[in-house]
Amino acid sequence: MASVSAHPDVMEKLVSLCKRRGFIFQSSEIYGGTGSVWDYGPLGVELKKNVKDRWWHAMVRARDDIEGIDAAILMHPRVWEASGHVAGFTDPLTDCKNCKRRFRADDPTIKGTPGTPDGQCPVCGSKGTLSEPRLFNLMFKTFMGPVEESAAVVYLRPETAQGIFVNFLNVQQSTRQKIPFGIAQIGKAFRNEITPGNFIFRTREFEQMEMQFFVEPGTDEGHFDYWKAQRMEWHKSLGLAPDRLRYKPHDTLAHYARAAADIEFDFGGSLGFQEIEGIHNRSDFDLGRHQEYSGKKLEYFDQPNNRRFVPFVIETSVGADRTTLALLVNAYREEEVPGESEGRTVLGLAPSIAPIKAGVFPLVKKDGMPEMASRVADDLRRSFPVFYDDGGAIGRRYRRQDEVGTPFGITIDGQSTQDGTVTVRDRDSLQQVRVAADQVRTYIDERITPP
Ligand code: GAP
Repeated sequence: MASVSAHPDVMEKLVSLCKRRGFIFQSSEIYGGTGSVWDYGPLGVELKKNVKDRWWHAMVRARDDIEGIDAAILMHPRVWEASGHVAGFTDPLTDCKNCKRRFRADDPTIKGTPGTPDGQCPVCGSKGTLSEPRLFNLMFKTFMGPVEESAAVVYLRPETAQGIFVNFLNVQQSTRQKIPFGIAQIGKAFRNEITPGNFIFRTREFEQMEMQFFVEPGTDEGHFDYWKAQRMEWHKSLGLAPDRLRYKPHDTLAHYARAAADIEFDFGGSLGFQEIEGIHNRSDFDLGRHQEYSGKKLEYFDQPNNRRFVPFVIETSVGADRTTLALLVNAYREEEVPGESEGRTVLGLAPSIAPIKAGVFPLVKKDGMPEMASRVADDLRRSFPVFYDDGGAIGRRYRRQDEVGTPFGITIDGQSTQDGTVTVRDRDSLQQVRVAADQVRTYIDERITPP
C-alpha cells in the first residue's frame, strides 16, 4: 500500500470536471455504465492524442534507430502460450459466498486468510465465507470464425509487445536496420482486471505505448540504463512535476527479466506514488520462446562478424491513459484570483499538451467585433485547435477556458477593430499583451511548440 501523499487527492473533482467539460465519460453510461471502461470526449481525445503524438515523435520520428508498426489486436493463440500469458497471466481470486462479491485473494482489506474460517469479507463482514483462492486468467477470450468451439478461441491482446516480437524479423529485414535498433507501437490492450479502478488508472481496455529495443547480449545493461534515463526525461518534458516522479526498482524479478524498474508518479491522496511506466531488460526470453513455439528462427545475422544470435530486448512500456491521468492530476489546481471575489479552477497543462490552444472572444457582440473574432479564429484553426466563445461576461469565458487548460485567451475589443491588434491573455500569469491580429498565429505557435 502506498503511503498517503503530501499532494491532495483531486480524483473526485477531476472525474466530475472530465465529465462536465467533455474529457472523459463512463462507457455506455445511459445503460448504467460498463465496469471500468471509459470513453474519451472531444477534449479528452485531443489530450490523449497529444500524449501519443509526443511519444511517437520522441520514440520513432526523431530517431533513426527505431521503426514504428501497428500490429493487429487479434493474434494466433499460440502467441499467448509462447509469451507465458495462457499459463501465467493470472491473479488469485476469492468469492464471498454470502454477498457474492469477488476479490483478489491478496487484497489488503481482507482480514484473515481466504478459504479458512477466519477469512473475513471486507464488504459484508461475514467470517469464513471467502472461498479458497483460485487462479483467474486476465485475458479476454473470444472466438474467431462462426463456430464457438475451443479450437476457435482467440484472445484480445493483454499487451502490445507480442505484436512487436513476432514481427522482429519482418521489420529488421524490410528496413535493413542493424542492431541495436527498436520497434515501437501504440495500441489497445485488454485485461479483465479483478480490481480495476481509480478512474482511468486501471481499466479493462486501455492503450499502451511500447518499444522493444533489440541489442547484442552483453550490451544490455548499458541500454537498460540509457532507456531508464530517456523515459524519465520524456515524462518531465510533458510537464509532470519532477518531485512527483521517481524510479522504483523491482524487488523481485520475473523469471525472464534481468532487470526492471518502474517510473512512478505521485497521484496524491492515498493513491500516492504508482507505476506509470515499466522499463524491463527481458533478455532473449520472448524471441527465444517464439522460436521454440513457432519453429521459426528469430536470429539476427551480424554480417561483419559472420555470426547469428538471438538479441536481448530492453522494453519500455507506458500507458497512454495512465499518463493522461497523471497529466490531469498534475495540472489540476484551484486558486484565488487577485482582485476578484470568485476563485478559479485551472488545468495548468503544458501548452503543447493542452487540448485547445486558444480561446477567441469578441468582447461584445456588436461593432464588428464578432466578425473580426471569427476571422482570427479561422486563421488560427489552420494551425491548432481553438474555441470561439461569444457567450456571457468575458471573465466567465476566461474561466471556462482556464478550467480545460487552454493556455491563451484572445480578445477582440473596441481597439482591435480600429488598429488591428488583439489582446492575448496568458492562462497562468494572467498578463495580457497586445499583438497584431495577423501575428497571433505565429505568437502562439512559438509558445505551444514542445521543448
Ligand atoms: N509489456 C509489458 C507490460 O505490459 P505492464 O507493467 O503490465 O507491462 C505497462 O504494463 C504499462 O501499461 C503500465 O505501466 C501502465 O501504464 C499500463 N497499464 C497496464 N495495465 C493497465 C490497466 N489495466 N489500465 C490502464 N493502464 C494499464
